[in-house]
Amino acid sequence: MFAQASLIALLSGSAFAGTTIWSGSFNPFPNVSVFDEWSWADEVGTYQWYIHGTEPTSHYLALSPSYKNPADTAEVNGLMATIDSTAEWNSDMERTELIPQTTQNLGVGNLFYHFSLSTDPTGLNAPDSTLEHQILFFESHFTEIKYGVAPNPTDLQWMVSSQFQWGTPLVPGTWYNFAYDIDFTAQTVGLWFSTGGSPLTKVENNVAAPTSTNSEDFHVGVLRIVNTPAPENWYISGVYIENGPITTAIGSGNSTGSSSSASSSSSATSVTSTTPTTTISTPSSTPTATVPEYAQCGGTGYTGPTACASPFTCTAISPPYYYQVSRKLTRNLLNIEFES
Ligand SMILES: *[C@@H]1O[C@H](CO)[C@@H](O)[C@H](O)[C@H]1NC(C)=O
Ligand SMILES: *[C@@H]1O[C@H](CO)[C@@H](O)[C@H](O)[C@H]1NC(C)=O
Repeated sequence: MFAQASLIALLSGSAFAGTTIWSGSFNPFPNVSVFDEWSWADEVGTYQWYIHGTEPTSHYLALSPSYKNPADTAEVNGLMATIDSTAEWNSDMERTELIPQTTQNLGVGNLFYHFSLSTDPTGLNAPDSTLEHQILFFESHFTEIKYGVAPNPTDLQWMVSSQFQWGTPLVPGTWYNFAYDIDFTAQTVGLWFSTGGSPLTKVENNVAAPTSTNSEDFHVGVLRIVNTPAPENWYISGVYIENGPITTAIGSGNSTGSSSSASSSSSATSVTSTTPTTTISTPSSTPTATVPEYAQCGGTGYTGPTACASPFTCTAISPPYYYQVSRKLTRNLLNIEFES
């Protein structure tokens, strides 16, 4: 009897919400030291953590209930991402960014990339609207939130391939909830949005875009151009990726709860764990060139070949400066990039 009731609850839950195919919940992170457990040599956990400055992780990341959308009852904490002049990474840009660590294919079908953004309610370390910020973007920038750029520098603006689509003023303490509505088949992207605890509504219909991802190039964090000493704090919470129909209620665990059960059902099988499509500067997972073991294959200023002799992969030895061909059997995750 009890089991039957639970099953009905489970089925009705999965009928009304999509399936979370990747959860960026910060609940598995009791403290920010846990982000340091990920490395190129040991790709554990849900986030890659390599795009940051030279200070300890605690300088750039912090977890607290104060940094989450209070309407998101499923999350214990939100993440505060800090950038300052020490956060220079791989060029004259300041960057504090997390990347999904996953074997899921996050680039097929119609997916919803959810996240919420805010800044300190008192205006402490508020973003500088005279500087360009790229927030929650893909490597190819086919969809992203920008701040500090034309046409409305004081707005959070949704851009598709750097073209303005939509914006809303950034007010300290307000929570802005977003979902990128990405149809990887039709090659279109739209936007869902709300503030506070309100359900998401579709604010921009899908437009054509060169949608692509290698499933590990969704940048959760902030990139600021150009180097300046003033620190900024951005709050991020509720990060998850859903195979539709979209969950409009705010609360990443809301869909996670029903979908973790639902993921074993047949409704989840439309997204499969195939090798992600290679994009931009990411070397192929089946390299054809032959940089030999122990030779350099990447890093700042390096212009030589990047594909490694089989079965080796290009591994960060001293990122971002030096990458070397090393014996590692998982696929190549080298993600060196040069933003425009
Ligand atoms: C962070 O959390 C991990 C896992 O619970 C724990 O082992 C570690 O001691 C904690 N580190 C700090 C600095 O609190
Ligand atoms: C999930 O969403 C429903 C409907 O919006 C709401 O009633 C419920 O409280 C939410 N649950 C959690 C855990 O946030």
